[in-house]
Amino acid sequence: MSLTANWSYPTAIRFGAGRISELADACAAAGIKKPLLVTDKGLSYLPITQNTLDLMEAAGLGRAMFADVDPNPTEINAEAGIKMFRDGGHDGVIAFGGGSGLDLGKLVAFMSGQTRPLWDFEDIGDWWTRADPDGIAPIVAVPTTAGTGSEVGRASVITNSETHEKKIIFHPKFLPSVVICDPELTVGMPPMITAGTGMDAFAHCLEAFCSPHYHPMSQGMALEGMRLVKEYLPRAYKDGTDLEARAHMMSAAAMGATAFQKGLGAIHAMSHPIGAVHHTHHGTTNAVVMQAVLNLNRPEIEDRLTQAAAYLGIEGGFDGFYEFVGALNKSLGIPANLTDLGVTDPDIDALVASALSDPSCGGNPVELTKENVTALFKTCL
Ligand SMILES: [Fe+2]
Repeated sequence: MSLTANWSYPTAIRFGAGRISELADACAAAGIKKPLLVTDKGLSYLPITQNTLDLMEAAGLGRAMFADVDPNPTEINAEAGIKMFRDGGHDGVIAFGGGSGLDLGKLVAFMSGQTRPLWDFEDIGDWWTRADPDGIAPIVAVPTTAGTGSEVGRASVITNSETHEKKIIFHPKFLPSVVICDPELTVGMPPMITAGTGMDAFAHCLEAFCSPHYHPMSQGMALEGMRLVKEYLPRAYKDGTDLEARAHMMSAAAMGATAFQKGLGAIHAMSHPIGAVHHTHHGTTNAVVMQAVLNLNRPEIEDRLTQAAAYLGIEGGFDGFYEFVGALNKSLGIPANLTDLGVTDPDIDALVASALSDPSCGGNPVELTKENVTALFKTCL
């Protein structure tokens, strides 16, 4: 194993119930005087969003909002948001929401001062160095779900509306200057979304933990993140107003996204094309394919997951961990397979090709091939 790596750690996080009240202070800390709040359509009408706009207005920051953001945001959404940012003379973004609102908000801030087209910054090699760092506006991120962890991430996932491929746009300055993690904002999440987003956090921790790259800090974070999900996701699912469970899930989400600097794997490599083509929920898709991916990777991860099982209080080593995932999925109402999730008439060859070109492949413990990924898709359908 090579003991050489590049590490980046997250940013200033204001964590705790009620801390959305510090939004104006967070904007000041980030150097933002005229923010554009970016969120998705569904959230824009909810009281948590309206209250946040009220806080902005009361602090003299205006109440500008861009909410034309689809569940899987596209470059069309991005272009509209960038136009509103530039036309409005804004100097920073409040990225507000789940994965879609956070990712598009970060992207609008990133693109606000760039002259090259969006796809020039795809996460390939050193393409990120093409960006003008002075053209990236500061970001305050406010998650309203506990799963994606995009609030502490250095990338945005965006769907190409023509090819229906999910692309990752990366730059170190995507990392928000300030994050407000206020678990009260997640209290209204319905159980199905609590389950799906929570399993996304679990998938981030699990894939990071299993990735073969050297990153002991992430390894520790991934393990404790899995424990938090195991203890608190069932509670948050059962009772959305359980603020203690909501808080621990919010930590797990930020930990998972920090940990996956170490790598993701086949769960995400499969989930990205399925979501892009069949519009399934990202975290729920991860949960559906999780057991099949564990089986594929078993020869490389058995010892490691035996240690994880012991820490998590799961008996039976790898097999116990595998059974635990199945039981957790079932208790959260996760569909048993991709067909039940709504994946009908899939073009398996196309899904396999997209999965194999997904950057997540690089962190999978077992090398992914056309043969084993085709078998994975067939098992999961
Ligand atoms: Fe994810």
